[in-house]
Amino acid sequence: ITAADLNAEQHLMVGGVDTLALAKKYQTPLYVYDTGEIRAEINAFKQVFEANQVKYQISYASKAFAAVAMYQVIAEEGIHCDVVSGGELYTAKQAGFPMQQVSFHGNNKSLAELTMALDYGVGCIIVDNFYELKLLADLAAEREQLTTIMLRVAPGISAHTHEYISTGQEDSKFGFDLNSGQADDAVKQAQAAPYLDLVGVHCHIGSQIFELDGFKMIVDKLVTLFARWQKDLGFYPQIINVGGGFGVKYTSEDQPLLPTEFVDAIIKETIAQTQAKQVPMLEIWIEPGRSLVATAGMTLYTLGASKEIPGIRKYLAVDGGMGDNIRPALYEAKYEAVLAKDPTLPSEQVASIAGKYCESGDMLIWDQKLPATKPGDVLAVLDTGAYGYSMASNYNRNPRPAVIFCEDGHSQMVVQRETYADLTRLDVPLVTKTEVN
Ligand code: LLP
Repeated sequence: ITAADLNAEQHLMVGGVDTLALAKKYQTPLYVYDTGEIRAEINAFKQVFEANQVKYQISYASKAFAAVAMYQVIAEEGIHCDVVSGGELYTAKQAGFPMQQVSFHGNNKSLAELTMALDYGVGCIIVDNFYELKLLADLAAEREQLTTIMLRVAPGISAHTHEYISTGQEDSKFGFDLNSGQADDAVKQAQAAPYLDLVGVHCHIGSQIFELDGFKMIVDKLVTLFARWQKDLGFYPQIINVGGGFGVKYTSEDQPLLPTEFVDAIIKETIAQTQAKQVPMLEIWIEPGRSLVATAGMTLYTLGASKEIPGIRKYLAVDGGMGDNIRPALYEAKYEAVLAKDPTLPSEQVASIAGKYCESGDMLIWDQKLPATKPGDVLAVLDTGAYGYSMASNYNRNPRPAVIFCEDGHSQMVVQRETYADLTRLDVPLVTKTEVN
């Protein structure tokens, strides 16, 4: 939080809009985004690529936060996006997102999902395994539809991150294994398929990564592999897709590199490796999810009950919790909160922020310094823009919050708050015995 984030009354601002006014207008819990910040993050990536004068593509990993308005913002910025399900694909389509700019990921895409992708004309399908390769080769041939694909490989490199969110290691459900020759077979099969056009190779080594080593290693490993393929298989990809995973700063303890520093290093490594191995320079694709949206978003809550266990701990409960942010419970993720009415007030207590859900693990923050608080105060949990709304649930039959986009002093609701009626909308009452008879 900087002075620029506060108005004259010291209220916390987002995209030039007073968070207290937002809480009043739209109620809490509430997800609010500074849309301008999302655009700025995209532009920062663009600038690094432009400065290095390389061919590139930025593809927003929309699992981090997907909604019609979000796909519209991504389309406005002229970048690509990737989807991992028929549901994300459908949402992008509803948003009028250009389908040529969509990549479709997933380790178990169904025939129905692949058919939908071909019907919509998505730009690229990232094939994960032999089952899918065959399914897609047959489908494309049957429809006589030339289909652009990349192969996802598991490079056998794991990033230094939480075990559950690292995806690139050898023992992983994702991608063709490199060490056992599976990737070579996949290339051969793709080349033999008349309606598949293999343009690149993809890998993703994990999420919330803080160090460069993993990215440098995959570039190194893949360019070495491509050079061998050129010689042995007569195939050299146009595109190296290094995935996402660029870490962001959630708390003052986090010291990640800037997302752009990662990308600059990836570009320079790709140039160096292709020169060293005397192979053509590659087009570089990245798939940032978290780093485009995490710090642009926050969640507003209203404080309610509190409990103090003398000498042990003080709990302050908010009107949301694990249903709108599962990350602390699932990954022990850390966040910081401020009082929306004045984030600069001196701290007067150490409190833990509890949710309202019926389990002890429903904690958002442990032991954080806060100013004096009272029920009704609006608390802003910062940097919740990634994997918050997208992983939200109706646990305990709590309606999911609304999502607000703020930019240049204007706010707009982009996802409505669920109602109680929404909660029972899909329920089908039991038929009574009399009706059955
Ligand atoms: N590309 C692929 C193939 C991915 O699997 C992912 C994330 C990304 C890109 C984007 O990664 P990012 O830039 O957002 O780190 N729910 C977890 C994160 C799971 C990430 C899964 N894959 C969390 O809340 O931390």
